[in-house]
Amino acid sequence: MYKCHKVILTAALVLTTVGAFAQSVAYPGIGRPATTKEVAAWDIDVRPDFKGLPPGSGSVSQGQDVWELKCAQCHGVFGESNEVFSPLVGGTTNEDIKNGRVANLTRRDFPGRTTMMKVATVSTLWDYINRAMPWTAPKSLKTDEVYAVTAYMLNLAYVVPDNFVLSDKNIAEVQKRMPNRNGMSTQHNLWPGKEFNGSAKPDTANVACMKDCVPEIKVSSMLPDYARNAHGNLAEQNRTVGQQKGADTLQPERKSGASVMGESPTAPPSVKAAAKTADPALALLAKHNCNACHAQERKVVGPSFNDMAKKYPGKVDYLSGKIKSGGAGVWGPIPMPAQNAPDADIKTIASWLAAGGAK
Ligand code: HEC
Ligand code: HEC
Repeated sequence: MYKCHKVILTAALVLTTVGAFAQSVAYPGIGRPATTKEVAAWDIDVRPDFKGLPPGSGSVSQGQDVWELKCAQCHGVFGESNEVFSPLVGGTTNEDIKNGRVANLTRRDFPGRTTMMKVATVSTLWDYINRAMPWTAPKSLKTDEVYAVTAYMLNLAYVVPDNFVLSDKNIAEVQKRMPNRNGMSTQHNLWPGKEFNGSAKPDTANVACMKDCVPEIKVSSMLPDYARNAHGNLAEQNRTVGQQKGADTLQPERKSGASVMGESPTAPPSVKAAAKTADPALALLAKHNCNACHAQERKVVGPSFNDMAKKYPGKVDYLSGKIKSGGAGVWGPIPMPAQNAPDADIKTIASWLAAGGAK
Protein backbone atom coordinates (compact mmCIF):
# COMPACT_ATOMS: atom_id res chain seq x y z
CA MET A 1 0.00 0.00 0.00
CA TYR A 2 2.74 2.41 1.05
CA LYS A 3 4.78 1.55 -2.03
CA CYS A 4 1.85 2.12 -4.31
CA HIS A 5 1.30 5.51 -2.75
CA LYS A 6 4.89 6.44 -3.45
CA VAL A 7 4.64 5.47 -7.09
CA ILE A 8 1.63 7.68 -7.57
CA LEU A 9 3.44 10.54 -5.88
CA THR A 10 6.45 10.11 -8.13
CA ALA A 11 4.25 10.06 -11.20
CA ALA A 12 2.67 13.31 -10.10
CA LEU A 13 6.10 14.84 -9.66
CA VAL A 14 7.13 13.84 -13.16
CA LEU A 15 4.08 15.56 -14.53
CA THR A 16 4.73 18.83 -12.75
CA THR A 17 8.52 19.13 -12.59
CA VAL A 18 10.47 16.82 -14.85
CA GLY A 19 13.75 18.52 -13.94
CA ALA A 20 13.32 17.99 -10.25
CA PHE A 21 12.56 14.33 -10.78
CA ALA A 22 15.69 13.82 -12.89
CA GLN A 23 17.73 15.54 -10.21
CA SER A 24 16.39 13.38 -7.42
CA VAL A 25 17.44 10.26 -9.34
CA ALA A 26 20.95 11.50 -10.06
CA TYR A 27 21.56 12.79 -6.52
CA PRO A 28 19.21 10.93 -4.19
CA GLY A 29 18.48 12.79 -1.01
CA ILE A 30 19.91 16.07 -2.27
CA GLY A 31 17.83 19.14 -2.90
CA ARG A 32 14.08 19.49 -3.27
CA PRO A 33 11.82 20.42 -6.16
CA ALA A 34 11.55 24.15 -6.74
CA THR A 35 8.23 25.55 -5.63
CA THR A 36 5.84 27.07 -8.16
CA LYS A 37 6.61 30.50 -6.72
CA GLU A 38 10.36 29.97 -7.05
CA VAL A 39 9.96 28.92 -10.66
CA ALA A 40 7.76 31.94 -11.34
CA ALA A 41 10.39 34.26 -9.85
CA TRP A 42 13.04 32.93 -12.23
CA ASP A 43 10.81 32.52 -15.25
CA ILE A 44 10.67 36.15 -16.36
CA ASP A 45 11.90 36.01 -19.94
CA VAL A 46 9.88 37.82 -22.60
CA ARG A 47 10.06 36.24 -26.03
CA PRO A 48 9.86 37.87 -29.45
CA ASP A 49 6.27 36.63 -29.79
CA PHE A 50 5.65 38.37 -26.42
CA LYS A 51 5.11 35.12 -24.55
CA GLY A 52 5.96 35.94 -20.94
CA LEU A 53 5.19 39.65 -21.22
CA PRO A 54 3.18 40.74 -18.17
CA PRO A 55 0.19 43.04 -18.83
CA GLY A 56 0.70 46.72 -18.11
CA SER A 57 1.36 50.09 -19.69
CA GLY A 58 3.38 53.27 -19.41
CA SER A 59 3.56 56.56 -21.27
CA VAL A 60 6.51 58.33 -22.82
CA SER A 61 6.23 61.16 -20.31
CA GLN A 62 6.10 58.79 -17.31
CA GLY A 63 9.10 57.11 -18.86
CA GLN A 64 10.97 60.39 -19.00
CA ASP A 65 10.57 60.74 -15.21
CA VAL A 66 11.90 57.21 -14.63
CA TRP A 67 14.72 57.88 -17.06
CA GLU A 68 15.87 61.11 -15.45
CA LEU A 69 15.72 59.63 -11.96
CA LYS A 70 17.18 56.18 -12.61
CA CYS A 71 18.94 55.95 -15.96
CA ALA A 72 20.33 59.33 -17.06
CA GLN A 73 23.23 59.32 -14.57
CA CYS A 74 24.81 56.52 -16.56
CA HIS A 75 23.22 56.62 -20.03
CA GLY A 76 22.92 60.40 -20.50
CA VAL A 77 19.82 62.59 -20.71
CA PHE A 78 19.20 61.54 -24.32
CA GLY A 79 20.61 58.02 -24.10
CA GLU A 80 23.86 59.19 -25.66
CA SER A 81 25.77 57.85 -22.59
CA ASN A 82 27.83 59.74 -20.07
CA GLU A 83 31.27 58.78 -21.37
CA VAL A 84 31.53 55.67 -19.19
CA PHE A 85 28.43 53.65 -20.10
CA SER A 86 26.92 52.18 -23.26
CA PRO A 87 25.17 54.65 -25.58
CA LEU A 88 21.61 53.45 -26.08
CA VAL A 89 20.08 55.85 -28.61
CA GLY A 90 21.31 57.50 -31.80
CA GLY A 91 22.35 56.51 -35.31
CA THR A 92 18.87 55.50 -36.54
CA THR A 93 16.69 57.39 -39.05
CA ASN A 94 13.07 57.48 -40.23
CA GLU A 95 14.23 55.73 -43.35
CA ASP A 96 15.48 52.84 -41.16
CA ILE A 97 12.09 52.65 -39.45
CA LYS A 98 10.54 52.22 -42.92
CA ASN A 99 13.08 49.63 -44.09
CA GLY A 100 13.66 47.76 -40.88
CA ARG A 101 17.38 47.88 -41.45
CA VAL A 102 19.76 50.44 -39.94
CA ALA A 103 21.82 51.89 -42.77
CA ASN A 104 24.60 53.19 -40.54
CA LEU A 105 25.47 49.62 -39.53
CA THR A 106 26.87 49.08 -43.01
CA ARG A 107 29.05 52.19 -42.82
CA ARG A 108 32.57 51.47 -41.65
CA ASP A 109 33.19 55.12 -40.82
CA PHE A 110 30.15 55.46 -38.53
CA PRO A 111 31.34 55.85 -34.95
CA GLY A 112 29.84 53.48 -32.42
CA ARG A 113 26.90 51.13 -32.43
CA THR A 114 24.03 52.11 -30.16
CA THR A 115 21.50 49.70 -28.72
CA MET A 116 18.69 51.14 -30.86
CA MET A 117 20.81 50.56 -33.96
CA LYS A 118 21.37 46.90 -33.18
CA VAL A 119 18.36 45.55 -31.36
CA ALA A 120 15.91 43.75 -33.68
CA THR A 121 13.14 42.92 -31.23
CA VAL A 122 11.40 45.29 -28.84
CA SER A 123 10.81 42.32 -26.53
CA THR A 124 14.57 42.14 -25.97
CA LEU A 125 14.69 45.77 -24.93
CA TRP A 126 11.78 45.31 -22.52
CA ASP A 127 13.20 42.07 -21.13
CA TYR A 128 16.71 43.46 -20.63
CA ILE A 129 15.56 46.58 -18.82
CA ASN A 130 13.18 44.49 -16.71
CA ARG A 131 15.85 42.00 -15.62
CA ALA A 132 19.05 44.01 -15.54
CA MET A 133 18.51 47.76 -15.12
CA PRO A 134 19.23 50.06 -13.35
CA TRP A 135 22.63 48.43 -13.13
CA THR A 136 22.97 49.11 -9.42
CA ALA A 137 19.43 47.93 -8.58
CA PRO A 138 18.27 45.32 -11.11
CA LYS A 139 14.64 44.13 -10.93
CA SER A 140 13.68 47.16 -8.85
CA LEU A 141 11.42 48.67 -11.55
CA LYS A 142 7.68 48.07 -11.44
CA THR A 143 6.16 46.51 -14.57
CA ASP A 144 4.52 49.80 -15.59
CA GLU A 145 7.83 51.62 -15.12
CA VAL A 146 9.49 49.18 -17.51
CA TYR A 147 6.77 49.90 -20.09
CA ALA A 148 7.18 53.63 -19.52
CA VAL A 149 10.95 53.80 -19.75
CA THR A 150 10.95 51.51 -22.80
CA ALA A 151 8.42 53.88 -24.41
CA TYR A 152 10.70 56.81 -23.60
CA MET A 153 13.71 55.15 -25.25
CA LEU A 154 11.60 54.32 -28.31
CA ASN A 155 10.46 57.95 -28.40
CA LEU A 156 14.05 59.22 -28.27
CA ALA A 157 14.65 57.11 -31.39
CA TYR A 158 11.43 58.44 -33.08
CA VAL A 159 9.87 54.97 -33.13
CA VAL A 160 6.81 56.18 -31.16
CA PRO A 161 5.34 59.71 -30.83
CA ASP A 162 5.53 61.96 -27.74
CA ASN A 163 2.01 61.12 -26.53
CA PHE A 164 2.41 57.35 -26.90
CA VAL A 165 1.38 54.88 -24.21
CA LEU A 166 3.17 51.54 -24.63
CA SER A 167 1.28 48.47 -23.42
CA ASP A 168 1.06 44.71 -23.84
CA LYS A 169 -1.84 45.42 -26.25
CA ASN A 170 0.09 47.56 -28.74
CA ILE A 171 3.69 46.37 -28.39
CA ALA A 172 3.32 44.06 -31.42
CA GLU A 173 2.52 47.14 -33.54
CA VAL A 174 5.66 48.85 -32.23
CA GLN A 175 7.72 45.83 -33.28
CA LYS A 176 6.76 46.63 -36.89
CA ARG A 177 8.58 49.97 -36.55
CA MET A 178 11.81 48.77 -34.91
CA PRO A 179 14.62 50.33 -36.97
CA ASN A 180 16.67 47.13 -37.19
CA ARG A 181 13.85 44.53 -37.17
CA ASN A 182 15.12 42.98 -40.40
CA GLY A 183 18.70 43.01 -39.19
CA MET A 184 18.55 39.64 -37.51
CA SER A 185 19.49 36.68 -39.67
CA THR A 186 19.98 32.98 -39.22
CA GLN A 187 21.65 32.75 -42.64
CA HIS A 188 25.15 32.28 -41.40
CA ASN A 189 27.22 29.31 -40.42
CA LEU A 190 27.20 30.02 -36.71
CA TRP A 191 23.54 29.08 -36.85
CA PRO A 192 23.20 26.50 -39.57
CA GLY A 193 19.67 27.22 -40.60
CA LYS A 194 17.48 25.15 -42.89
CA GLU A 195 18.75 27.08 -45.90
CA PHE A 196 22.13 25.33 -45.61
CA ASN A 197 20.60 21.87 -45.89
CA GLY A 198 23.34 20.09 -44.04
CA SER A 199 26.13 21.72 -46.05
CA ALA A 200 26.97 24.12 -43.23
CA LYS A 201 30.64 24.74 -42.56
CA PRO A 202 32.10 26.47 -39.53
CA ASP A 203 33.14 30.12 -39.88
CA THR A 204 36.79 29.28 -39.31
CA ALA A 205 38.87 26.51 -40.80
CA ASN A 206 41.82 25.50 -38.66
CA VAL A 207 43.89 22.37 -39.08
CA ALA A 208 45.33 20.60 -36.06
CA CYS A 209 49.12 20.81 -35.85
CA MET A 210 50.63 17.34 -36.37
CA LYS A 211 54.37 18.06 -36.61
CA ASP A 212 56.91 20.30 -34.80
CA CYS A 213 54.13 21.65 -32.65
CA VAL A 214 54.67 24.13 -29.82
CA PRO A 215 54.81 22.00 -26.65
CA GLU A 216 52.51 24.23 -24.65
CA ILE A 217 50.34 27.13 -25.65
CA LYS A 218 50.12 30.02 -23.18
CA VAL A 219 46.90 31.94 -23.37
CA SER A 220 47.17 35.44 -22.00
CA SER A 221 45.46 38.78 -22.43
CA MET A 222 46.84 42.28 -22.64
CA LEU A 223 45.49 45.80 -22.52
CA PRO A 224 47.16 48.55 -24.52
CA ASP A 225 48.74 51.11 -22.14
CA TYR A 226 46.24 53.85 -23.01
CA ALA A 227 43.32 51.61 -22.01
CA ARG A 228 44.84 50.29 -18.81
CA ASN A 229 43.30 52.83 -16.45
CA ALA A 230 40.53 54.02 -18.76
CA HIS A 231 37.77 53.08 -16.32
CA GLY A 232 39.57 53.84 -13.08
CA ASN A 233 41.45 51.43 -10.88
CA LEU A 234 39.95 47.96 -11.41
CA ALA A 235 41.32 46.82 -8.05
CA GLU A 236 39.03 49.33 -6.35
CA GLN A 237 35.97 48.23 -8.26
CA ASN A 238 36.04 44.56 -7.34
CA ARG A 239 34.66 43.08 -4.17
CA THR A 240 37.18 42.80 -1.36
CA VAL A 241 36.28 39.13 -0.89
CA GLY A 242 36.52 36.25 -3.33
CA GLN A 243 38.83 35.23 -6.14
CA GLN A 244 38.59 38.20 -8.43
CA LYS A 245 40.59 41.09 -7.00
CA GLY A 246 41.10 43.10 -10.18
CA ALA A 247 44.40 44.51 -11.43
CA ASP A 248 45.75 47.68 -9.83
CA THR A 249 45.55 49.71 -13.02
CA LEU A 250 47.20 52.75 -11.43
CA GLN A 251 50.44 50.74 -11.67
CA PRO A 252 52.01 49.75 -14.98
CA GLU A 253 51.43 46.15 -16.00
CA ARG A 254 53.86 43.74 -14.40
CA LYS A 255 56.16 42.22 -16.97
CA SER A 256 56.70 38.82 -15.35
CA GLY A 257 53.84 36.33 -15.13
CA ALA A 258 51.11 36.15 -17.71
CA SER A 259 48.08 36.75 -15.56
CA VAL A 260 47.33 40.06 -13.92
CA MET A 261 43.75 39.43 -12.94
CA GLY A 262 42.67 37.74 -9.81
CA GLU A 263 45.59 35.79 -8.43
CA SER A 264 46.85 36.48 -4.94
CA PRO A 265 50.60 35.81 -4.43
CA THR A 266 51.57 39.25 -5.73
CA ALA A 267 48.28 41.09 -5.38
CA PRO A 268 48.64 44.87 -5.69
CA PRO A 269 49.49 46.61 -2.39
CA SER A 270 46.23 48.57 -2.16
CA VAL A 271 44.22 45.36 -2.39
CA LYS A 272 46.39 43.61 0.18
CA ALA A 273 45.98 46.47 2.61
CA ALA A 274 42.22 46.56 2.11
CA ALA A 275 41.94 42.83 2.62
CA LYS A 276 44.12 42.91 5.72
CA THR A 277 42.42 45.73 7.56
CA ALA A 278 39.10 44.51 6.06
CA ASP A 279 37.89 48.05 6.43
CA PRO A 280 34.11 47.69 6.86
CA ALA A 281 33.49 50.90 4.91
CA LEU A 282 35.35 49.61 1.85
CA ALA A 283 33.40 46.37 1.97
CA LEU A 284 30.16 48.34 2.15
CA LEU A 285 31.11 50.50 -0.83
CA ALA A 286 31.49 47.30 -2.82
CA LYS A 287 28.37 45.71 -1.37
CA HIS A 288 26.17 48.69 -2.22
CA ASN A 289 27.70 49.22 -5.65
CA CYS A 290 28.98 52.72 -4.89
CA ASN A 291 32.04 51.73 -6.91
CA ALA A 292 29.94 51.73 -10.07
CA CYS A 293 30.10 55.54 -9.93
CA HIS A 294 32.86 56.43 -7.45
CA ALA A 295 36.53 55.50 -7.16
CA GLN A 296 39.15 56.30 -4.56
CA GLU A 297 41.41 58.68 -6.45
CA ARG A 298 39.57 59.51 -9.63
CA LYS A 299 36.28 60.99 -10.79
CA VAL A 300 34.10 58.34 -12.50
CA VAL A 301 30.42 59.33 -12.76
CA GLY A 302 30.58 60.99 -9.34
CA PRO A 303 33.49 62.57 -7.43
CA SER A 304 36.39 60.54 -5.99
CA PHE A 305 36.25 59.44 -2.36
CA ASN A 306 39.46 61.43 -1.74
CA ASP A 307 37.82 64.63 -2.97
CA MET A 308 34.67 64.03 -0.92
CA ALA A 309 36.71 63.29 2.22
CA LYS A 310 38.71 66.49 1.69
CA LYS A 311 35.54 68.56 1.28
CA TYR A 312 33.58 67.26 4.28
CA PRO A 313 35.86 66.58 7.27
CA GLY A 314 33.83 65.69 10.36
CA LYS A 315 30.48 66.06 8.56
CA VAL A 316 29.00 62.63 9.24
CA ASP A 317 25.37 63.81 9.30
CA TYR A 318 25.60 65.81 6.11
CA LEU A 319 27.24 62.89 4.29
CA SER A 320 24.73 60.35 5.63
CA GLY A 321 21.86 62.57 4.49
CA LYS A 322 23.28 63.00 1.00
CA ILE A 323 24.01 59.29 0.52
CA LYS A 324 20.51 58.42 1.66
CA SER A 325 18.56 60.93 -0.42
CA GLY A 326 20.95 61.64 -3.29
CA GLY A 327 21.27 65.05 -4.87
CA ALA A 328 22.74 67.06 -7.71
CA GLY A 329 24.62 70.22 -8.50
CA VAL A 330 27.44 70.06 -5.95
CA TRP A 331 29.97 68.41 -8.27
CA GLY A 332 28.26 68.81 -11.62
CA PRO A 333 24.96 68.34 -13.44
CA ILE A 334 24.79 64.54 -13.13
CA PRO A 335 22.53 63.57 -10.21
CA MET A 336 23.39 61.02 -7.56
CA PRO A 337 20.43 58.64 -7.08
CA ALA A 338 19.09 58.04 -3.56
CA GLN A 339 20.84 54.98 -2.08
CA ASN A 340 18.72 52.18 -0.74
CA ALA A 341 21.13 50.90 1.94
CA PRO A 342 20.51 50.28 5.66
CA ASP A 343 21.05 53.38 7.83
CA ALA A 344 23.84 51.69 9.78
CA ASP A 345 25.77 50.96 6.57
CA ILE A 346 25.34 54.53 5.36
CA LYS A 347 26.60 55.83 8.70
CA THR A 348 29.68 53.59 8.55
CA ILE A 349 30.52 54.92 5.08
CA ALA A 350 29.82 58.53 6.07
CA SER A 351 32.00 58.23 9.19
CA TRP A 352 34.81 56.76 7.13
CA LEU A 353 34.61 59.64 4.64
CA ALA A 354 34.34 62.25 7.39
CA ALA A 355 37.45 60.78 9.01
CA GLY A 356 39.52 61.24 5.86
CA GLY A 357 38.38 58.31 3.69
CA ALA A 358 41.79 56.65 3.81
CA LYS A 359 42.29 53.16 2.42
C1 HEC B 1 24.91 52.82 -12.61
C2 HEC B 1 24.91 52.91 -14.05
C3 HEC B 1 23.66 52.51 -14.82
C4 HEC B 1 22.36 52.90 -14.59
C5 HEC B 1 21.84 53.81 -13.47
C6 HEC B 1 21.56 52.32 -15.64
N1 HEC B 1 22.36 51.59 -16.48
FE1 HEC B 1 21.74 50.62 -18.18
N2 HEC B 1 23.64 49.89 -18.43
C7 HEC B 1 24.71 50.15 -17.60
C8 HEC B 1 25.81 49.28 -17.99
C9 HEC B 1 27.18 49.23 -17.32
C10 HEC B 1 25.35 48.50 -19.09
C11 HEC B 1 26.09 47.41 -19.82
C12 HEC B 1 25.91 46.16 -18.98
C13 HEC B 1 26.52 44.94 -19.58
O1 HEC B 1 26.86 44.93 -20.76
O2 HEC B 1 26.64 43.95 -18.82
C14 HEC B 1 24.00 48.93 -19.35
C15 HEC B 1 23.21 48.43 -20.38
C16 HEC B 1 21.92 48.85 -20.66
C17 HEC B 1 21.14 48.41 -21.80
C18 HEC B 1 21.60 47.41 -22.85
C19 HEC B 1 22.63 48.01 -23.75
C20 HEC B 1 23.06 47.01 -24.82
O3 HEC B 1 23.10 47.41 -25.98
O4 HEC B 1 23.36 45.86 -24.49
C21 HEC B 1 19.92 49.03 -21.72
C22 HEC B 1 18.78 48.90 -22.70
C23 HEC B 1 19.94 49.84 -20.52
N3 HEC B 1 21.16 49.72 -19.91
C24 HEC B 1 18.87 50.60 -20.08
C25 HEC B 1 18.84 51.25 -18.84
C26 HEC B 1 17.66 51.85 -18.28
C27 HEC B 1 16.31 51.92 -18.96
C28 HEC B 1 18.02 52.35 -17.06
C29 HEC B 1 17.13 53.04 -16.03
C30 HEC B 1 15.96 52.31 -15.61
C31 HEC B 1 19.44 52.08 -16.87
N4 HEC B 1 19.89 51.39 -17.97
C32 HEC B 1 20.19 52.47 -15.76
C33 HEC B 1 24.77 51.05 -16.57
C34 HEC B 1 23.64 51.67 -16.02
C1 HEC C 1 24.66 56.04 -10.39
C2 HEC C 1 25.86 56.68 -9.94
C3 HEC C 1 26.10 56.79 -8.44
C4 HEC C 1 26.03 55.78 -7.48
C5 HEC C 1 25.62 54.33 -7.67
C6 HEC C 1 26.45 56.40 -6.25
N1 HEC C 1 26.75 57.71 -6.44
FE1 HEC C 1 27.39 59.03 -5.01
N2 HEC C 1 27.37 60.52 -6.41
C7 HEC C 1 27.09 60.38 -7.74
C8 HEC C 1 27.15 61.67 -8.39
C9 HEC C 1 26.91 61.95 -9.86
C10 HEC C 1 27.46 62.62 -7.36
C11 HEC C 1 27.61 64.13 -7.50
C12 HEC C 1 26.28 64.79 -7.15
C13 HEC C 1 26.36 66.28 -7.07
O1 HEC C 1 27.07 66.88 -7.87
O2 HEC C 1 25.69 66.83 -6.18
C14 HEC C 1 27.60 61.86 -6.14
C15 HEC C 1 27.91 62.42 -4.89
C16 HEC C 1 28.14 61.71 -3.74
C17 HEC C 1 28.50 62.30 -2.45
C18 HEC C 1 28.75 63.78 -2.18
C19 HEC C 1 27.45 64.54 -1.99
C20 HEC C 1 27.66 66.01 -1.83
O3 HEC C 1 26.71 66.71 -1.44
O4 HEC C 1 28.76 66.53 -2.11
C21 HEC C 1 28.65 61.25 -1.58
C22 HEC C 1 29.03 61.35 -0.11
C23 HEC C 1 28.34 60.03 -2.29
N3 HEC C 1 28.03 60.34 -3.59
C24 HEC C 1 28.40 58.78 -1.74
C25 HEC C 1 27.91 57.62 -2.37
C26 HEC C 1 27.79 56.35 -1.72
C27 HEC C 1 28.24 56.05 -0.30
C28 HEC C 1 27.25 55.49 -2.63
C29 HEC C 1 26.86 54.04 -2.42
C30 HEC C 1 26.01 53.75 -1.29
C31 HEC C 1 27.05 56.24 -3.86
N4 HEC C 1 27.45 57.52 -3.65
C32 HEC C 1 26.53 55.70 -5.03
C33 HEC C 1 26.78 59.20 -8.40
C34 HEC C 1 26.56 57.99 -7.76
